[in-house]
Amino acid sequence: MAAKSPATRAVPSPLEWEYAPAPEARDILALEDRYGLYIGGEQVAPRSRKWFPTISPATEEHLAEVALAGPRDVDLAVQAARGAFEGEWSALRPAERAKYLFRIARLIQERSRELAVAESLNGGKPIKESRDVDIPLAAAHFFYYAGWADKLEYAFPNRKPRPLGVAGQIIPWNFPLLMLSWKIAPALACGNTVVLKPAETTPLTALIFTDICRQAGLPAGVVNIITGDGSTGAHLVKHPDLDKVAFTGSTGVGKAIRRELAGTGVKLTLELGRKAANIIFDDCALDQAVEGVVHGIYFNQGHVCCAGSRLLVQESIYEPLVAKLKRRLRTIRVGDPLDKNTDLGAINSRMQLDRIRELVASGEGDGAEMYQPPCRLPERGYWFAPTVFTNVAQSSRIAQEEIFGPVLSVLTFRTPEEAVEKANNTPYGLSAGVWTEKGSRILWMAERLRAGVVWANTFNRFDPTSPFGGYKESGFGREGGLHGLEPYLRFDR
Ligand code: NAI
Ligand code: MG
Repeated sequence: MAAKSPATRAVPSPLEWEYAPAPEARDILALEDRYGLYIGGEQVAPRSRKWFPTISPATEEHLAEVALAGPRDVDLAVQAARGAFEGEWSALRPAERAKYLFRIARLIQERSRELAVAESLNGGKPIKESRDVDIPLAAAHFFYYAGWADKLEYAFPNRKPRPLGVAGQIIPWNFPLLMLSWKIAPALACGNTVVLKPAETTPLTALIFTDICRQAGLPAGVVNIITGDGSTGAHLVKHPDLDKVAFTGSTGVGKAIRRELAGTGVKLTLELGRKAANIIFDDCALDQAVEGVVHGIYFNQGHVCCAGSRLLVQESIYEPLVAKLKRRLRTIRVGDPLDKNTDLGAINSRMQLDRIRELVASGEGDGAEMYQPPCRLPERGYWFAPTVFTNVAQSSRIAQEEIFGPVLSVLTFRTPEEAVEKANNTPYGLSAGVWTEKGSRILWMAERLRAGVVWANTFNRFDPTSPFGGYKESGFGREGGLHGLEPYLRFDR
């Protein structure tokens, strides 16, 4: 049980008083016992004849059985996508294509409560985040790209944009429906068809999405959803009839995919690992910065590709900042993801919990100082208390490797030059945050930080109009904004 593990043993006694529970009702979500694959507009049983259970990480409760697609299933899905691409989809007038995307966007809004409950139940994230962030942003993505569908010629003047064909898309478990929308919305807006594989621990919202495609009247085969594990993803990437692969996940798998596709002519986008620096200067608004730090690392249990997991604090404010941060940590409510007051939900899977524990143990082994506020972790399910490490060496694994959990490492700097040097000293470069009252310093820092996104006096803000993506081992290609159309287009002369 989580409460007895070495990593959480340090959590002291429970708080003296508790909040009354405020659970979101679950009855809006009607789950089927079993979900087949969504291929050619229909739910079909997998040819592999394999199924696997999907659970709630907060309680380990069994939710449904899901198909595990094998090579034959992958092939059928790609064939369906190819058929739809060569059939009515790419011949459709762009303005008609846009109407489907608008319909999907509106249906996501209409079914937002059901989707939010499914997302929190299956993934462990707090309902207030799935309700207020994941689902509205997913709808916003479809609305945004719907608007581009008939304006591609204006987006890329004199370049004759054309769809690529069939896209194979593989997404992770941290923002299941949002990552689905980041992948599917631009692909469809540009006139492609897709085969998408959700992560093994969080298939439910993608499966509900298949019903949204049906409701929207989307032509069969334009969107195909195949559930499965890494082997399913590997079969998809290897399929010879893809024109495009888009992957979000770990750097290791991203590298393997790049090797697999080298020399094939298949277009590739990778959005991978990261170890973002959140940089706090001594002239910042300290209380706001503390909120930004908390949001930067404890949002979505730290399962965020661009999480501000390395805090760089200017030495002169180190002590007051750490004191305020520790005090703020004591107010974070950890528990039932479906409770509307929960700030920090469950860790997504046993595997991810083990990974967090291993890295946290290595941090303690390296001599960093660990702080966890008093909080009571539920008996069942996968849990990890919000954690801060101080006295962290730059070379320590907890300062270098992605933990992907609610664990912050605090380091210090003296000058802006040193902040830049330390911030850039990782193999990654997806995002960074800068906190200062000085506008000129923000620009000076943003020019030098090697990160795809630099937030100033805020953190973890997403908008469909704004491109997102990495440098170095964080991958390449951009998602979101006008830039996010380009990976799904070819340009004829
Ligand atoms: P992963 O990279 O193995 O999984 C991401 C997706 O890729 C899943 O849908 C998975 O089924 C699929 N996949 C796995 N192996 C594949 C292969 N050989 N070919 C094609 N697809 C494959 O990530 P995992 O194992 O869930 O997490 C490991 C670590 O990766 C995490 O601790 C975290 O540090 C990082 N990660 C980063 C994410 C991000 O947002 N960029 C998301 C998830 C994990
Ligand atoms: Mg993996």
